Amino acid sequence: MKVITTIHELQSNIESLKKSVTTIGFVPTMGYLHEGHLTLAKEARDHNEVVVMSIFVNPLQFGPNEDFDRYPRDVERDTALARNAGVDILFIPNTDDVYRGKQSVTMSVKERVDVLCGRKREGHFDGVVTVLTKLFHLVQPTRAYFGQKDAQQVAVVDGLVKDYFFPIKIVRVPTVREEDGLAKSSRNVYLSQQERREAPILYQSLKKARESIMGGEQDPSVIMRNICDMIQEHTSGKIDYVELYSYPELYELNRLEGEIIIAVAVQFKQARLIDNIIISVEPEEKLNV
Ligand code: PAF
Repeated sequence: MKVITTIHELQSNIESLKKSVTTIGFVPTMGYLHEGHLTLAKEARDHNEVVVMSIFVNPLQFGPNEDFDRYPRDVERDTALARNAGVDILFIPNTDDVYRGKQSVTMSVKERVDVLCGRKREGHFDGVVTVLTKLFHLVQPTRAYFGQKDAQQVAVVDGLVKDYFFPIKIVRVPTVREEDGLAKSSRNVYLSQQERREAPILYQSLKKARESIMGGEQDPSVIMRNICDMIQEHTSGKIDYVELYSYPELYELNRLEGEIIIAVAVQFKQARLIDNIIISVEPEEKLNV
């Protein structure tokens, strides 16, 4: 595995790779790698000749009250994990190289942002698409890998590549889960023992919603209410949101059709957990035949 720390070196490596290689899989990360990232790397490894992973804690996607300075970093450990995961090029640029002086063009996301977690993180997705545009141009990947856990990020990135004709396939990789269904997250360690026992209810409530949709329930408000009831009844967490939209457009729906997302966020004492499922709903006529 090559570790590259400058844009210049990455560009010359990609340029020579492109002469002989037809597929590059890209896994963008902010480091402090966990099983979710390694699953993305494995997917990339399975489907591409070359795998590039980036580690860059992007200041532009942190709000003024967010934890940019405290964001965990451990490059040595990450390098070992990336090597084990079969990454070919690990790109770790520094901030001055990525943001050279004042940006003369800025990017602003107009759709898919004022819902779910984006509602409270003004400017966050502007920072995400800015850095990804830079990284996509540098790495020139065939495929880029993102976790479904951050479904809103995948939706925004889908909008970016479609609107600006990036010749990149965005691969959405299913959420990695504990045996009891709880979505894996570095925040799970902040749950008390009692909360940890309650936390799988989030996914159970989403699965139950899927069953009721498959059973013919069409009304989004009923589905969302049932999820809220189940979470309120069986956990001590405080619901931040339970929302249902078309996916990846993230429009509100009156009736269910096509790809939909149901997403939840629940605040426990020390940890805020999020989870979602994406369901493909057949049009009603088809369900009735
Ligand atoms: O998901 C992340 O870690 C970041 O938002 C990403 C995609 C690496 C962009 O900085």
